[in-house]
Amino acid sequence: MRKLICTPFFIALLAGSAHAQKKTIAQRVDSVIRLMTLDEKIGQMNQYNGDWEATGPITKDGDKQDQIRRGRLGSMLNVTGVEHTRQLQEIAMGSRLKIPLLFGQDIIHGYRTTFPIPLAEAASWDLDAIEGSAHVAARECAAAGVHWTFAPMVDIARDPRWGRVMEGAGEDPYLGSCIARARVLGFQGKKLGDTDAVMACAKHFAAYGAAIGGRDYNSVDMSLRTLWEVYLPPFKAAEEAGAATFMNSFNDLNGIPATGNAYLQRDVLKGKWKFRGFVVSDWGSVGEMINHGYARDNKEAALEAVTAGCDMDMESRSYIGNMAALVREGKVGIGLIDDAVRRILTKKFELGLFDDPFRFCNVQREQQQWNNPENLRIEQEMAKKSIVLLKNDNQLLPLSRQTRTIALIGPLVKSVRENLGFWSYDWADDSARIVSTWDGIQKKLGSGTHLLYAKGCGITDTSRAGFAEAIETAKQADVVILDIGEARDMTGEAKSRSNIHLPGVQEELVRAVCSTGKPVVVLIGAGRPLIFNYTAEHAGAILYTWWLGTKAGNAIADVLFGDYNPSGKLPISFPRTEGQIPVYYAHFSTGRPSKNDSDVNYVSAYTDLHNGPRYPFGYGLSYTHFEYSALRLSAATFRPGGKLTATVTLTNTGKFDGRETVQWYVRDLVGSVVRPVKELKGFEQVFLKAGESKDLSFTIDADKLRFYNDKLEYLYEPGEFRLFVGGDSQNVKEIPFTLIAGR
Ligand code: NOJ
Repeated sequence: MRKLICTPFFIALLAGSAHAQKKTIAQRVDSVIRLMTLDEKIGQMNQYNGDWEATGPITKDGDKQDQIRRGRLGSMLNVTGVEHTRQLQEIAMGSRLKIPLLFGQDIIHGYRTTFPIPLAEAASWDLDAIEGSAHVAARECAAAGVHWTFAPMVDIARDPRWGRVMEGAGEDPYLGSCIARARVLGFQGKKLGDTDAVMACAKHFAAYGAAIGGRDYNSVDMSLRTLWEVYLPPFKAAEEAGAATFMNSFNDLNGIPATGNAYLQRDVLKGKWKFRGFVVSDWGSVGEMINHGYARDNKEAALEAVTAGCDMDMESRSYIGNMAALVREGKVGIGLIDDAVRRILTKKFELGLFDDPFRFCNVQREQQQWNNPENLRIEQEMAKKSIVLLKNDNQLLPLSRQTRTIALIGPLVKSVRENLGFWSYDWADDSARIVSTWDGIQKKLGSGTHLLYAKGCGITDTSRAGFAEAIETAKQADVVILDIGEARDMTGEAKSRSNIHLPGVQEELVRAVCSTGKPVVVLIGAGRPLIFNYTAEHAGAILYTWWLGTKAGNAIADVLFGDYNPSGKLPISFPRTEGQIPVYYAHFSTGRPSKNDSDVNYVSAYTDLHNGPRYPFGYGLSYTHFEYSALRLSAATFRPGGKLTATVTLTNTGKFDGRETVQWYVRDLVGSVVRPVKELKGFEQVFLKAGESKDLSFTIDADKLRFYNDKLEYLYEPGEFRLFVGGDSQNVKEIPFTLIAGR
């Protein structure tokens, strides 16, 4: 470990380390704040990008280095690697107060080991696995000098046109909350300061996922009731799980930019929820309040943001350039500045950086986490669990290992980097490291099976020139596997699309290959729900493979050949076409509900399209079949303070052992405000051997029936309810029950 060059001043500050242990962090923070000049305080609220250059110094910008030296910079993003973070931290150690820098990075689904995209992981509904995946990511990046990930993104998303749908957990507030908690726990490990943990950042606060028209950065306009009921719960869950930081968002919410939104940040987050961490802006979002038409200039933007509760300015330079003047002019009280700085320094203390600024800079640990076999094994497990079986006519899957000739067709068969998806890191040796579908299958089958290949078309091609070869190849095979979908940069930040059909001529390729009459298995790799109606109707089997990460091909091969029985369930409804968006299961009934798909006359329905999605929330098949018995209740009624127990018998009636995600939904039939036709209230994963049965129970108490009324009171109302259980949100068994007034 490199030695600190200590000035007498630093020695005193650090606590004189002898007493430091005894002092509380709060006392230590205060003792630092007392020594700070106004400029140094504002420096802590300032964050710059690292201008990452693989071949050069971390930042060529001499000015940034100078600002670190002058204590004018508290944090940097996009600086990783022990060598580079150390170089910059050393500069910080040359500053007057030697306050360590904080390094943040978007570690969204893995660092060196790329995990499935978050939406794919959400399809596993496996909270332990999701927590484990986040923990591996934390371990790897913490070993590379990173202290802080800008994740999890916990935005509810009901519009697959929005590119950032890939980054969250889908459409449902309950599932989203469970996953938010799992991810925060995974990133932050046992405690901040452990060298296998990083600070989490719940983002984007708030309602960013409801951008009008699914267009990124667009405005959001919604009732406060919807905000509280649908969009805030995952943030609350993240806060309760101890998320160290929050990031505000680019969007305006009901006319006020989130970055300058005092209701969100001061009243709700720091007030009602008593959040003790700090809030960072999104990239440039303080300055963007000028474009919003909410601030005249950067100075006013800084005033609005800090007043609203935004503690750190990411890359706007609005704070560093204007805050001192705002304080001198009396527009910003020093108390506000001290509060922000206190929050930031507290986290630096909790991370242990004041005791050892280089504690995350350990070359040995970095090497040990690089291509770590255990991390890669965990990734492959997560990838298998993320795959969703959408269709399996006549039990086409799993394929037999004895199949003589298999044709692998499509633009994604041999693709490597596409498997990583958006928000992943490119490393020079990726082509050798990442497992393509081709490689995964070839490795699994060995030389006994003849594998044929035709690309057919590129991802966005408009040319059908490759179809003839694809058809000829298909004709020679016993079974065809088509691997199609999106490129990794088609879904992500700033990647909203108005057309989310399979890109290019890919669905025509499916049609051409299906015309051979060969059994066709389709793999769809994408970051969002795509629209693929022909494929849905004509392919023999469909696996939704998202973007599965480093070991994608192995996971796909395991599922195709039955070494893993698919268990994924969709965390978001898949639309039939864009005109139906947003389509989500927890909608209201309306005054004119449509009874069925042909009931379209003067009811709430499209006259040219079924109301329901192509695939509903919670949907996913298995190679086996699960039978749900009728529901049984311990009693038909209960009172607040009491509870009911519901029981269902689940039987694996198929030929394979398998895992089912049993989903419990509730409907409140009559309320003081209208209630969704179904709301997920719980789920459980069970593994049953073929032929095995198990009783599963679910407890209902009044708290599970709470909702926000029109005064935003979170309460339950006595009355009639329905309880549903099933393997998805549509195909359910149901039973009525009543909550009786009074104790
Ligand atoms: C903008 C994105 O909205 C945010 O999620 C991300 O953390 C920052 N850029 C930093 O890269």
